[in-house]
Amino acid sequence: MAKITQSVDLAAHGRVAVLTVDNPPVNALSQHVRKGLHDGIKQATADGAVQAIVIVCAGRTFIAGADITEFGKPPTEPSLHTVLDLIEGSPKPVVSAIHGTALGGGLEVTLACHYRVGVKGARFGLPEVKLGILPGAGGTQRLPRVVGVEKGLQMMVSGDPIGADEALRVGLIDATVDGDLAAAGVAFAEKVLDEKRPLKKIRDLTDKIAVARDKPQIFAEFRKSVARQTRGFRAPESIVKAVEAAVSLPFDQGIKRERELFVELLNSPESKAQRYFFFAEREAAKIPDVPADTPAREIKKAAVIGAGTMGGGIAMNFANAGIPVTVVEVAPEALDRGLGIVRKNYEATAARGRLTPADVDKRMGLIHGTTDWGAVGDADIIIEAVFEEMPVKKEVFAKLDGLAKPDAVLATNTSTLDVDEIAAATKRPESVIGTHFFSPANVMRLLENVRGKKSSKTTIATAMTVGRRIGKVPVLVGVCYGFVGNRMLHQRGLQAEKLILEGAAPHQVDRVLTDFGFPMGPFAMGDLAGLDVGWRIRKGRGVKAPVADRICELGRFGQKTGAGYFKYEKGDRTPIPDLEVEKIIVDVATSMGITRRAISDEEILQRLLYPMVNEGAKILDEKIAIRPSDIDVIWVYGYGWPVYRGGPMFWADSIGLRALRDRLLEFKKQSGDAFWTPAPLLDRLANEGKGFIGA
Ligand SMILES: NC(=O)c1ccc[n+]([C@@H]2O[C@H](COP(=O)([O-])OP(=O)(O)OC[C@H]3O[C@@H](n4cnc5c(N)ncnc54)[C@H](O)[C@@H]3O)[C@@H](O)[C@H]2O)c1
Repeated sequence: MAKITQSVDLAAHGRVAVLTVDNPPVNALSQHVRKGLHDGIKQATADGAVQAIVIVCAGRTFIAGADITEFGKPPTEPSLHTVLDLIEGSPKPVVSAIHGTALGGGLEVTLACHYRVGVKGARFGLPEVKLGILPGAGGTQRLPRVVGVEKGLQMMVSGDPIGADEALRVGLIDATVDGDLAAAGVAFAEKVLDEKRPLKKIRDLTDKIAVARDKPQIFAEFRKSVARQTRGFRAPESIVKAVEAAVSLPFDQGIKRERELFVELLNSPESKAQRYFFFAEREAAKIPDVPADTPAREIKKAAVIGAGTMGGGIAMNFANAGIPVTVVEVAPEALDRGLGIVRKNYEATAARGRLTPADVDKRMGLIHGTTDWGAVGDADIIIEAVFEEMPVKKEVFAKLDGLAKPDAVLATNTSTLDVDEIAAATKRPESVIGTHFFSPANVMRLLENVRGKKSSKTTIATAMTVGRRIGKVPVLVGVCYGFVGNRMLHQRGLQAEKLILEGAAPHQVDRVLTDFGFPMGPFAMGDLAGLDVGWRIRKGRGVKAPVADRICELGRFGQKTGAGYFKYEKGDRTPIPDLEVEKIIVDVATSMGITRRAISDEEILQRLLYPMVNEGAKILDEKIAIRPSDIDVIWVYGYGWPVYRGGPMFWADSIGLRALRDRLLEFKKQSGDAFWTPAPLLDRLANEGKGFIGA
């Protein structure tokens, strides 16, 4: 075996040369991998004893993409394009033998080969769209030539990988293999030689793209079918354009067009935001004083207290991850109702074909409902999701303290209450932490883990690890009212109420946010969640919200009663503006002596979002969030902030903190309201000409 570079070896297996890439952990396409492939192919083609070449990877996967540590650095030779041209142009057949995941540049390497074989468990995808770019090493030109235009578009615009069976069916691979992969690759190469198969260069294939040439409406139809989920993103449209070029232009010109579109995307604000976010998400896993090797408790069994809206969803997360979970309720009726909803949820998923009836039974089988508190005794983590009332929470935690095993983690799903006070109800506050799930808890990816003053490192590490295991994106925050997400949301809510009293219509406010990229605005969101919840809390606390209270007094609780801030047709969730509500707003405004005026979309956007950024700055000053990017992760995963705008703190930087701060001061001057006072951190960064990120 000859070493070509530190990560690539060349070995002879009779007349077949095997190039092995070994660049742990995921065989990323680092410079030495590209160089190794390049020089290895050169050597093998120059060697008279070699008649075919196999590319294979060591470790757990085929090449899983670019080397992210090279992102943003000047390109180094050889470029991936050069390597791929060399592979495709090789006079001897090149076969890639794939296991694990062939993603991005990894899949593009295989597409330059003349043949591809993969093990049954292999997966194949071009996920570049998730970073706001497109497959820039020929992927947009070659993939449609092998799998057809529609399948190629679907794979590249979704970014989701396909399995080996599907890859074989659509023509992406030539065979599935088992046993030793290198040996299987060599055997396939031998067959190619024995059967004198031609050098199948994808660049020369035309039959699958010819279909689209005769049916140009394919593109219009595809654009329409993805319009909803790609709204606001730039890369999907560029991918469609690149594939149009693959269909209408000769290969080399298509590659040129792909390059232009790639560079355009690379410099676009959308991709910059998405690439920033990719790292932000990874960064959120790092906690300065709780290093990655901090021992976490092993979670073999979980328990959830309360089978209401949140408890049921939280239990589903554990069952979905294969972890048995006990759900404790006060009364059998509440338990039956809660578990009934869980079953209905699973059955709805099964009805959409995303679970089999056997999966439903298996998952329900992992959820054990009971009214016997003793059942929490063997749980490694217990998550409380009972009513949001401090005395109830304290009573529950005192009880859990007496029943839970000594090393169990005791977690609360409270959204507003003081985690330290809850922890103080136990004799083991070091084992207590907040795990703030978002509704619907089985769907939303965000998990705000709330660190109490006394939460131990093991408790924190456990909450972070188990969060990831159940498919969430955990972000660690500190204790304050509303934690990070809801505390910032509250600022937006205050302005939304003011804006409608001052003259904006609820549908105008909502539209400004949906135009910005949110899935819905604050009023449609209120209608979806149910306006009665807040109304009851306000009544309990003696607080008033004049417009919302009047709406609730009419029995308009939102979608569930067919009307709230908007009205709804039966069976339809589309909010329809309602004159009755506009009349209420005008009445309330008049009674408060407010002169209504037309308000511009720009003012609405600034008044809704700038106070959130300002609150984010306070949160950073108070060290409630570890870093600005954590706030962005919270907003993207918890509240639908459009990822192509990075998150509120990244977005604020793109506006410029000085401009943003000055606008806050103008609003302050106009309104005389201290609400608009810039946070000290914002003020300081603005004066220094800095941004939040990397400040
Ligand atoms: N609903 C949301 O959107 C949301 C989001 C995040 C966090 N939370 C928080 O989650 C918690 C639960 O909220 P929810 O919306 O699921 O409420 P819910 O009213 O739907 O459910 C609460 C459940 O707890 C049960 N319960 C009450 N006291 C109990 C006790 N002593 N022992 C066992 N069970 C008891 C009730 O029977 C009920 O089924 C609250 O702390 C809330 O602030 C809610």
